[in-house]
Amino acid sequence: MKLANKVAIVTGGSGGIGLATAKKLVSEGAKVVIADINENGGHKAIDEINRELGGEVLFIKTNVAEYEDVVYLVDRTVEVFGGLDIMFNNAGFAKPVPLLQHDPANDYHPIVAVNQNGVYYGILVAARKMAELGVKGTIINTASVFGILPGELTFTYNATKAAIINMTSSAAMELGPQGIRVIAIAPGRVNTPILSPYKDFGVWEQMVSEQMRSTLTEPTEIANAVAFLASEESNCINGTCVNLDDGYSSFKARLFV
Ligand SMILES: NC(=O)c1ccc[n+]([C@@H]2O[C@H](COP(=O)([O-])OP(=O)(O)OC[C@H]3O[C@@H](n4cnc5c(N)ncnc54)[C@H](O)[C@@H]3O)[C@@H](O)[C@H]2O)c1
Repeated sequence: MKLANKVAIVTGGSGGIGLATAKKLVSEGAKVVIADINENGGHKAIDEINRELGGEVLFIKTNVAEYEDVVYLVDRTVEVFGGLDIMFNNAGFAKPVPLLQHDPANDYHPIVAVNQNGVYYGILVAARKMAELGVKGTIINTASVFGILPGELTFTYNATKAAIINMTSSAAMELGPQGIRVIAIAPGRVNTPILSPYKDFGVWEQMVSEQMRSTLTEPTEIANAVAFLASEESNCINGTCVNLDDGYSSFKARLFV
C-alpha cells in the first residue's frame, strides 16, 4: 500500500473526482477526511466507503470559500487522525454562461470564491500545519485543461483554473525548503455531474469525440493519478501541472481519424 498511515483531506469529496480519490486513498492505506459543502452527499460517501472498503474516514462539512471553515477542517483532522500528510484541494464548480450575459455578482465572484480562494485557503492552512508539525507533505490542487487552454462559456472558471496553476508553482517554490511538494492536476473531460449541462447544449457527441480514446475519462482514472502524486513514488514531481486529459490539450481536434 502506497499511503499506509498517511492522513489525507479531500475537498469536494462527496462525489465525482473527490469521492473516487477518497476511495483510492483509503484503499492505499490512508486515513481520509472528506470535506464538502454537500452534507447529505458527504454522509453517503462515508457510508459507501465504510461498506466497500472499511478504513478510517470522517466527513467534515466545509465551505472552502470560508477561511474559518478551512482552518477548522485542518485543525479537526489533526485532532482526530493525528497529522496531515496529503491535502487534495479539489472542490470546485462551473456555471456555463456567455461572457456578454455575465452578472459579476453571479457569474464571477462566487466562482472565484470557491475555485480560487478555496484553493488558496487550502494551500495556506495545510502548508502552515505541515510546517508546524514538521511534515514533508504533499498538496495537490485540481486545475483543469481550461486553465491552460481558452474555453467557451466558462470564462470565470477558466481564469480560476489558470490561477491555480500559478498558485501551485509559486507555493512549491516557497515550500520546497520545508519539504512540502505542491502539484496541480489538469483533468480534461471527466465523467461527473459537472459536465451534465453540456447534454442540453447539443455538443455532447463532439465533446466525447475530442478525447483521444473517444470516451470521457472516468473519475477513478484521475484518482489513480492523484494517489501516485500523493505518494513517495512521485517525489521528483513538484511545482508543475500534470495534464490528465487523455491527450485533449495536445491535439484538441483531429481531422482525419
Ligand atoms: N469533470 C470534469 O470534466 C472536470 C474537468 C477538469 C477539472 N474538474 C475539476 O475537478 C474538481 C471536481 O469536480 P467534479 O468533476 O468531480 O465535479 P462534482 O460536481 O462531481 O464535484 C465537485 C464537488 O465539490 C463540492 N463543492 C462545491 N462547492 C463547494 C464548496 N464551496 N465547498 C466545499 N465543497 C464544494 C460539491 O458539493 C461536489 O461534491 C473541480 O474542481 C472541477 O473544476 C472537473
